Amino acid sequence: MNILVTGGTGYIGSHTVVELLNRGEQVVIVDNLSNSYDNVIDRIESICGRHPDFVKADVRDFKKMEAVFAQYDFDAVIHFAGSKAVGESVAKPLLYYRNNLESTWVLVELMKKYNVPSIIFSSSATVYGETDLVPIKEDTEYRCTNPYGRTKMINELFLQDIVAAHPGISAICLRYFNPIGAHASGLIGEDPQGIPNNLMPYITQVAIGKLKMLSVFGNDYPTHDGTGVRDYIHVVDLAKGHLAAVDYVRQNQASGFLAVNLGTGRGYSVLDLVHTFSRVSGKDIPYQLTERRPGDIATCYADPSKAKELFCWETKLDLQKMCEDSWRWQSKNPTGYKR
Ligand code: NAD
Ligand code: WQD
Repeated sequence: MNILVTGGTGYIGSHTVVELLNRGEQVVIVDNLSNSYDNVIDRIESICGRHPDFVKADVRDFKKMEAVFAQYDFDAVIHFAGSKAVGESVAKPLLYYRNNLESTWVLVELMKKYNVPSIIFSSSATVYGETDLVPIKEDTEYRCTNPYGRTKMINELFLQDIVAAHPGISAICLRYFNPIGAHASGLIGEDPQGIPNNLMPYITQVAIGKLKMLSVFGNDYPTHDGTGVRDYIHVVDLAKGHLAAVDYVRQNQASGFLAVNLGTGRGYSVLDLVHTFSRVSGKDIPYQLTERRPGDIATCYADPSKAKELFCWETKLDLQKMCEDSWRWQSKNPTGYKR
């Protein structure tokens, strides 16, 4: 299959490209490198022994994207490209709405024009927002709490409308829970710019000595140790979830619109993660207990049964493996991809 992967040099995109190449798919990456590096391509080649085609372009650039669609006969689009920092989206909503909505619009226009039948879209558990019903099922209502989350929700609604009007197009919105970990080779992983917002990259940077101490945001939540509980999913399991979705659209032409959770179905607290990471890395992670972070919820984990039923996909890699692989990536690449 010929697959367009937007955002394919990013964290989740690069891991997905590796899995696609490893099973013989033809991959074309489009990325503007706004949050990634071009040497990711060489790392991908070192892992797979194959080089994906790469076009440096902004997905919103209709002309450039049209040239890509005209050159390749795509069977599917996997759309990772987007801006993803919750805090930044509150400060710069215009940037988030433009980048995250316009890119999907351009892709769908071109899919229509060039008869590309399927799009797999990176959605997020963030669309559920302030729900207190766990495990979270896909029919839970949208309760997003920030502009980033609303861009994901609007993309989902947009794709629903497109699919309803154009039966030749099907869309699968994959709602990721909390991806962590890295490829077992230690060659690709998450490389956030500046001080990380997310828990695992913060922990790995404390472990490597780049940051002094972790702040644990709140220990008075109604959870087993008072700290927030999340559904951490290994990025390689997540990547394989995309392959399962590709197989599903291949076998079910005109499958319509689907929203599907990708999570493990298990929740771990902040301190569970800190302790497991310390154990597997042999590194002490100094932490201080601080106030809750505004907008955080106590507990969030998936009901992953829809993905299992439809895609025959479930996660295989446990928290220990997630911590081992995050640590291998960070310790082999103390400055990330920067040379
Ligand atoms: P990432 O920032 O590592 O990857 C996104 C890639 O898209 C980057 O390489 C960036 O350069 C590129 N990009 C951004 N805007 C672009 C544009 N207009 N044109 C071309 N390229 C563009 O992020 P990630 O963690 O790999 O996330 C991938 C997707 O999954 C995003 O849509 C994100 O919102 C979603 N998601 C991520 C998480 C998470 O915790 N990482 C959770 C849920 C959903
Ligand atoms: C996890 C837990 C924090 C940092 C975010 C986005 C979501 C999705 C994934 C894209 C929480 C605690 C964190 C720290 C801490 N991204 N924490 N100290 O908030 O569940 O989800 O990333 O779609 O949209 O909101 O992930 O890793 O930031 O936090 O105590 O320095 O760790 O309070 O309980 P979150 P996270």
